[in-house]
Amino acid sequence: MVKIAPSILSADFAHLAQSVQAVERAGAEYLHIDVMDGHFVPNITIGPPIVQALRPHSKMLFDVHLMIESPDRYIPDFIKAGADLVCIHAEACTHLHRCVCQVKELGARVGVSLNPHTPLSLIQYVLPMLDLVLLMTVNPGFGGQKFIPEVLPKIEALSRLIKRKGLAAEIEVDGGINTETAPLVARAGANVLVAGSAVFGADDPARAVQAIRQAAEK
Ligand code: DX5
Ligand code: ZN
Repeated sequence: MVKIAPSILSADFAHLAQSVQAVERAGAEYLHIDVMDGHFVPNITIGPPIVQALRPHSKMLFDVHLMIESPDRYIPDFIKAGADLVCIHAEACTHLHRCVCQVKELGARVGVSLNPHTPLSLIQYVLPMLDLVLLMTVNPGFGGQKFIPEVLPKIEALSRLIKRKGLAAEIEVDGGINTETAPLVARAGANVLVAGSAVFGADDPARAVQAIRQAAEK
């Protein structure tokens, strides 16, 4: 069974609550919230006030993807605003273990994200502590980019590793996920599928959520 995590990056920011409720009614499990700082990635997006404003409008798990430098400075604000899961980039953390502990101590679930080129070995010693590993299937920074197929063997390797060690971490993929790429990542072992443009760029986002799920479960 896969979980679908629509990314609000591609939603209409003037009607966020309605967009979120439409995908929730369609059965999406996670709401993926992309936070960018203009440093770690070239783009700037949203901060804790948006998370807080959306919180009363949805019961979905708020999956906050921090594409920011020094995430330790902002983790408390995002959790206070309503993040259920906080995902930090291994490449942005000199003290990754400390950041992972910080999220857990504040009572949220914790994920670590890896850029397409970053080897799995970087998270070897924190993997048992994680609720989720987010494998980027595009270079982070923008919605609507093309899926990078070179990440598929990394998804397979992580899936094998998690099984072999009997760990609980979910495998989330993010970037270029649509009805064509969903079956590839699901077969490789991903179970949380982020989709931005394929959901909110569609005429009917609710139907797009269902179509991606169906494609993945085929
Ligand atoms: C990319 C973001 C993604 C993005 C995905 O940097 O982390 O979550 O919104 O968008 P699509 O699904 O359009 O590739
Ligand atoms: Zn993301």
